[in-house]
Amino acid sequence: MTDKKIYSASTTAPVNIAVVKYWGKRSVKLNLPTNSSLSVTLSQADLKTHTTAACSSTFTENSLWLNGEAQDVSGARQTACFRELKALRKKLEDANPSLPKMSEYYVHVVSENNFPTAAGLASSAAGFAALVRAIADLYELPESPTELSKIARQGSGSACRSLFGGYVAWEMGQAVDGSDSYAVEVAPASHWPEMKAAILVVSAAKKSVSSTAGMQATVNTSALFTHRACDVVPKRMEAMKAAIENRDFEQFAAHTMADSNQFHAVCLDTTPPIFYMNDVSRAAIRAVEALNTHEGRVVGAYTFDAGPNAVIYYQEKDEEKILGFLGTLLAPEVAEWAGKYAKVTPEGYDNGSF
Ligand code: DP6
Repeated sequence: MTDKKIYSASTTAPVNIAVVKYWGKRSVKLNLPTNSSLSVTLSQADLKTHTTAACSSTFTENSLWLNGEAQDVSGARQTACFRELKALRKKLEDANPSLPKMSEYYVHVVSENNFPTAAGLASSAAGFAALVRAIADLYELPESPTELSKIARQGSGSACRSLFGGYVAWEMGQAVDGSDSYAVEVAPASHWPEMKAAILVVSAAKKSVSSTAGMQATVNTSALFTHRACDVVPKRMEAMKAAIENRDFEQFAAHTMADSNQFHAVCLDTTPPIFYMNDVSRAAIRAVEALNTHEGRVVGAYTFDAGPNAVIYYQEKDEEKILGFLGTLLAPEVAEWAGKYAKVTPEGYDNGSF
């Protein structure tokens, strides 16, 4: 008798915001980076992608829906994720012939973000991480989060870091086949519970230049880029890991802000130049710098991805200072700013189901 059952699994994946940025690919096909990167995973209470994956012998094609809209599943990134996950499932079925032959069925995926898509809020990271987790759960794959991060990486580089909670490194690796380019946990969120983040949603509009196109243009045209990838980031990765290990907020903040500024500098050094920050973003930078000077110590650390929204890391004891002082400084420049921020706590999450 043919198996007509519909199998399904649901999961959520968090957003991560890099404090040492990934920007540049050495292999476009395998999504291998030109430098390692490090991020903080944010709380799913505020920002997450919820994804359900289903498969059945009765399905006639693969499909993917994001926020109610059908997406193209024939792209190289989606195809790579489906192919690799199916190959792992096939291995499992070969070893256990009584298992349903899910590797032969088409897959339907439905995803919802609870935050602006493609507005520099790392939506592709949570999206591909959730897709890979959901299908891995559906297939009951025994692979570790690190193994699965190699698959999520091929969907979107930053997605590999969203398979872990807390503080996460994406080690760039050296191998041409990408076998050593994966995410690892640097420290769980519980290691540094005082750490908080605020997100200033400056604009929820889609970014003008996609990360993929922008970083390729940078690799091809920026002279500053080589200096960043080869000289600066390797040392900064070590310094950032030490800052996290020692819960040294001053060092963490110094490297976070310097790395964001250098990332935007290589964007400006690209031909044609790429501008992700706007006047409000720059006002936020000035506000944080002014606050740090005013306090005589580092209370806030800003960082910007490929968009104008600011993420500001701070310690819980400074929450009132950060939210109050920034509100006062920014409000005259951005009338609608007040209230448009999310407070998020770095979070661990249960990836033990793998
Ligand atoms: C600025 O992971 O979106 O957010 O691999 O081409 O999908 P693709 O790029 P993506 O780039 C993220 C760039 C960044 C920095 C970071 O998250 O490390």
